[in-house]
Amino acid sequence: MARINENYLKLRSGYLFPEIGRRVREYQKNHPDAEIIRMGIGDVTQPLCQAVIKAFHEGVEEMSKEETFKGYGPEQGYDFLREAIAENDYRNRGIDIKPGEIFISDGAKCDTGNILEIFGHDNIIAVQDPVYPVYVDTCVMGGRTGEYLENGYFRGLVYMPCTEENGFIPEIPGEKIDIVYLCYPNNPTGASASRDDLKKWVDYALKNNVIILYDSAYEAYITDPSVPHSIYEINGAREVAIEFRSFSKTAGFTGTRCAYTVIPENLRASASDGTMKPLHPLWLRRQTTKFNGVSYPVQKAAAAVFSPEGKIQIRETINYYMENARILREGLAQIGFSVYGGINAPYVWVNSGKGISSWNLFDKLLNEANVVCTPGSGFGPSGEGYIRFSAFAQRENVIKAIERIKNINW
Ligand code: MLT
Repeated sequence: MARINENYLKLRSGYLFPEIGRRVREYQKNHPDAEIIRMGIGDVTQPLCQAVIKAFHEGVEEMSKEETFKGYGPEQGYDFLREAIAENDYRNRGIDIKPGEIFISDGAKCDTGNILEIFGHDNIIAVQDPVYPVYVDTCVMGGRTGEYLENGYFRGLVYMPCTEENGFIPEIPGEKIDIVYLCYPNNPTGASASRDDLKKWVDYALKNNVIILYDSAYEAYITDPSVPHSIYEINGAREVAIEFRSFSKTAGFTGTRCAYTVIPENLRASASDGTMKPLHPLWLRRQTTKFNGVSYPVQKAAAAVFSPEGKIQIRETINYYMENARILREGLAQIGFSVYGGINAPYVWVNSGKGISSWNLFDKLLNEANVVCTPGSGFGPSGEGYIRFSAFAQRENVIKAIERIKNINW
């Protein structure tokens, strides 16, 4: 008899975003005329830029001719894209990352989850709290945790609270850990990590043989020049960190799908006999076995992000979203809320200061302003009392949403 993976039964009832979707659909069903403004899930609203679209068309055109048609591509990505990334995202910033260390994929979400396959089950994994739910749920699905506890944590994971008091930068845990997920600029708090913050983590990882899984999907939104874009800007990080990046938020690829993961060749972890083994060949083996690569036209479109026109055009879109973030920040602060993030990240993290729980605040905004946000508690217990606004929205909707929220009787 076939048996299920019972780890799935430990998961909380629904992934956060489907639950938000359910509540919004329910509201819309009962209020068909309500004009709902969605700033919950961080999904882009602006179209792909012209340079990307042109390259995409060219890629499709090539697929239509026998001379240029392509079947299976390299699972780890075409060289032209890996080289463009190494040059523009790393070498131009003085960072030593080689094209061969870059694995092209269809999403940072998949990669941050799948990466655990190359690590043994006995690793102790640490996550930030609040946290992008994918890291935790993947640990649960893979049987790397115990049961869900009353305090909102899963047994077996180490949670690192990120609060207003510590500036949403976690302390290094007191207990032993083997792997740590760090996300900066942070989803959901919008906080960014300084060079000193990252150095502290890299030094700790070097000293304690810890691997850092560094999700930097939002690096393109950094506006403060002192904030590092990559963990590899820190000396020693090549020996301890895997970095995840994405074209989703950088260039509007959420529906197009392209991302990449960097595994330096000198990054090693221990086998059970104590010998240190490189991780790069393990991930290469994993990807070539279970993944057939990203489609050629999509990779061609992604490479256009690094063309001179592409760089200008994506910057215009990023600036558009960051202006939305400014409007959100200032508008919500005027209402008297405590407002964080939104300066080096497209997320604004908000506490009403009125002791209202996250889901109650979510429902209040949905019912009284027809505005959708994301309840902070959905990201972890330390998110309780907060809500998150995504700046990925149409400008007129952001302005309208702020007006509506101001008109609520607070
Ligand atoms: C979010 O809203 O947190 C993002 O959409 C998550 C994601 O990119 O998967």
